[in-house]
Amino acid sequence: MTSPLSVVILAAGLGTRMKSKRAKVLHRAGGLTLIEHVVRAAQGITPAERITVVVGHQAVEVQALLEPLGVRFAEQKEQKGTGHAVMSCRAALRPEGGLVVVVYGDCPLLARATLQELVQRQKESAAAATLITTRLEDPSGYGRVVFGDRGEVQAIVEQKAATPEQLSIQYINSGIYCFRAKLLWKHIAEIRPDNPAHEYYLTDMVEILNRAGQKVQAMEVLNSNELVGINTRVELAEVDRLLRERKARDLMLGGVTIEKPETVSIDGDVCIGPDSVVEPFAQILGKTGIGPDCRIGACSIIQNSNLASGVEVAPFTFIADSEIETGTRIGPFARLRAGNRVGPNAHIGNFVELKNTQFGAGAKANHLAYLGDSEIGEKVNIGAGTITCNYDGTNKHRTKIGKDVFVGSNSTLVAPIELGDGSYIGAGSVITDPVPPDALALGRARQVVKEGWAAKKRKKK
Ligand code: UD1
Ligand code: CA
Repeated sequence: MTSPLSVVILAAGLGTRMKSKRAKVLHRAGGLTLIEHVVRAAQGITPAERITVVVGHQAVEVQALLEPLGVRFAEQKEQKGTGHAVMSCRAALRPEGGLVVVVYGDCPLLARATLQELVQRQKESAAAATLITTRLEDPSGYGRVVFGDRGEVQAIVEQKAATPEQLSIQYINSGIYCFRAKLLWKHIAEIRPDNPAHEYYLTDMVEILNRAGQKVQAMEVLNSNELVGINTRVELAEVDRLLRERKARDLMLGGVTIEKPETVSIDGDVCIGPDSVVEPFAQILGKTGIGPDCRIGACSIIQNSNLASGVEVAPFTFIADSEIETGTRIGPFARLRAGNRVGPNAHIGNFVELKNTQFGAGAKANHLAYLGDSEIGEKVNIGAGTITCNYDGTNKHRTKIGKDVFVGSNSTLVAPIELGDGSYIGAGSVITDPVPPDALALGRARQVVKEGWAAKKRKKK
């Protein structure tokens, strides 16, 4: 029988150095919160683990975010240090046998394979614990790993408590450990808050285990980037850059052209099909899927949307929560706010805004329009300046436009309203009554012409 494996992720701290109202683990890098990155890395390591997240500061928000990921929670009511945080989850971890992996919630670049290897190393050894270390050119800020003659770990000293000699050690504590559960729980109460911060440091476990005659070993990871712990917004920006660089690289290797990749922001969960082109400064965010042969214009922002194949998005276009079918052209300077479905081969041009609108196959709205809460049939032409008046000050109303309708420029469609198939709306109309199929509707003042009027006026002057 394999022994149980529990993973504990510490996410209760305030993150004082972020200088933020928001808990540190809720800050985002690469499109996900820091804690989501860590939970994802922990999910899927074997043997099937139980993940417990220790929450405290802004516990409600952290729990709401992670609940869908199927993790458990333990509460650390007061934030008295990393050792205290682990003590707080003891009850949640029964049974107490097997191994306990502890990971800090602020190291979002950690890879699943590294955690898996940590577990493997611990399993294969007689040590009480294994911790992950790496060598840094500039180790400042991190706890230092003090090694004995035979490569065993004797202690971790925090930066503040380190002697000048210890400060020169370049091996740092990553904050990722695998403990034999029995020994962790047997000795954890021996941690004392005997440091200037009066905190219970989990790192003291190393010396405690050594005193009890137990061995602690280190596993060195060569790619130190993976172990960056985020304490400030400077580190947050650096990690965000690394994640986006990694994402752009993966996409390019998968057949996507990215022009000036250092300027684009593409979230981790975005998918893009081959032979699509992403122009400079585009942002593709959230759960967005883009098919093959698309073009995403410079400075466009696309979030939580799906674009089928061959969709052309011209520069400076904003698309959120919308579905765009094959061969459609959108922008430049278009805004698709939310809940739109745009049929295949449609055109949406500059300064056109869509909200909660079904836009038919081959339909066109090439310039300057607001189309909200509307259903627009196939091959409709929406003239420049068309406005759906969907709001009466209290309620929203729908506009329904049949197929092959021609809406003349500067038409005002006062909803609720329905324009029948094949109807024609004269330019400049205010349409308040339903228009039957194939009819012409005009709703504007008749033009008056006064011959010679202007010449007379000039003469008077
Ligand atoms: C810690 C380590 C340090 C290591 C570094 C790696 C200790 C004492 N020090 O320092 O050796 O080099 O991480 O990045 O462990 N947390 C709680 N409850 C608390 C305090 C913290 O849940 O009471 C959580 C935080 O939310 C955070 C994590 O523990 O996710 C680490 O805390 P942090 O304050 O960032 O520790 P460091 O000072 O970076
Ligand atoms: Ca940290």
